[in-house]
Amino acid sequence: MNFPTVRPRRLRRNQIIRDMVAETTLSIDDFVYPIFVIEGKDIKNPVKSMPGIYQLSLEHAIEEAKEVFNLGIRSIILFGIPEKKDEMGSEAYAEDGIIARAIQKIKSNLPELIVIADACLCEYTSHGHCGVLDKNGNVLNHATLELLKKEAYVYAKMGADIIAPSGMMDGMVKAIRKSLDENGFEDVAIMSYSAKYSSNFYGPFRDAAESAPAFGDRKSYQMDFRNANEAIKEMMLDIEEGADFLMVKPALAYLDVIRMAKDQFPYIPLAAYNVSGEYSMVKAASQMGWIDERAIMVEILTAIKRAGADIIITYFAKDIAKILGG
Ligand code: PBG
Repeated sequence: MNFPTVRPRRLRRNQIIRDMVAETTLSIDDFVYPIFVIEGKDIKNPVKSMPGIYQLSLEHAIEEAKEVFNLGIRSIILFGIPEKKDEMGSEAYAEDGIIARAIQKIKSNLPELIVIADACLCEYTSHGHCGVLDKNGNVLNHATLELLKKEAYVYAKMGADIIAPSGMMDGMVKAIRKSLDENGFEDVAIMSYSAKYSSNFYGPFRDAAESAPAFGDRKSYQMDFRNANEAIKEMMLDIEEGADFLMVKPALAYLDVIRMAKDQFPYIPLAAYNVSGEYSMVKAASQMGWIDERAIMVEILTAIKRAGADIIITYFAKDIAKILGG
C-alpha cells in the first residue's frame, strides 16, 4: 500500500474547501471600465458590434460614470469621438476637445473616481492612424511624440489621474513623462500600453471609436502577434522611460505574455486589456444561446488575473461588479 495516499481531490470535496485553497480571487478594485464619449447633445448610440456599450454624449457619460462609481468600480478609461477629424488629430489636444471636457466634468462630479485618459491620435485623425503621416503615408515617430506631449499635458491639466498612451510610438513614455514633469504634473501616472499587438480583436472598438485606419494597417507600430520575447523588450524600455504601469493588450489570446511580464517585472503593476473582440465574441455566443455568459465571463476574467494581471480593463466591469457585490 502506498503511504501517504496522494489524493488531490481531498481539496476539492466541497465549495468551502475549494474557496479556502483558491489561488486567484477577483476583486472589484481590479477593474477599469471604458467609456466612449461623443461630441454632441443627448446622444446614446448603441455600438452594434458591442451589445451593452454606447457612444455617450457628455451629460450621459457623466451619468454612466456615476453609475459605475456606485457599483463600486473605482476607475474608468475614456475614449473620445470628436465632431471633426483632421490630419493632425487636433481635437485630441484641444483644450475644449471632447475628452478634455469629459475629464474635467467627470472629475468635478466624482473627484474620487480614478480617471485614466487614453492618449492616442487615431480617434482624431482623418486617416485613422495613431500618428502624423509623411507624404508616403508612413507614421512619423518624432512628430507624433510632440503631439502626444500636448495631449498628455491637456488631459493632466483637466484633472486626469493617469495618462495611458496607446499609440506604440517609440519613446512615448519618456516624452510624456517629460511633458508632465515640466508642467508641474509630477503626480500624474503613466500607464503605458507597452505590449500592444496589431490585433484583429480590436474590430468592434473601431466601430465604437470610429477609428479604423482609412488605409493600410497598424503593423508598423503595433506588435506582431508572433512575438512574445519582444514584449519584454518593449516593457523594459517603458520602465526605463518612467512608466508606472505596464499593459498587455489584448488579454485572452496573450495570457502567456501576461505571465512573462509578471515574472520579469513583478514590481510594476500590470494591466491587461480584455479588448472589444473578446467581449463581442462572448456576447454573440451568449445571444445565440450557445454559452453561459455569466460563467464564461467569470472564467475569462479569473484566467487573466491568474496569468498575472493586477488590473483588468474590461467592458464586463459593470457586470462583474454586480456579481462581486460592490
Ligand atoms: C487606440 C486604441 C485601440 C484600442 C484601445 N485604444 C484601438 C486600436 O489600436 O486600433 C482597442 C480597444 C479594444 O479593442 O477594446 N489606439
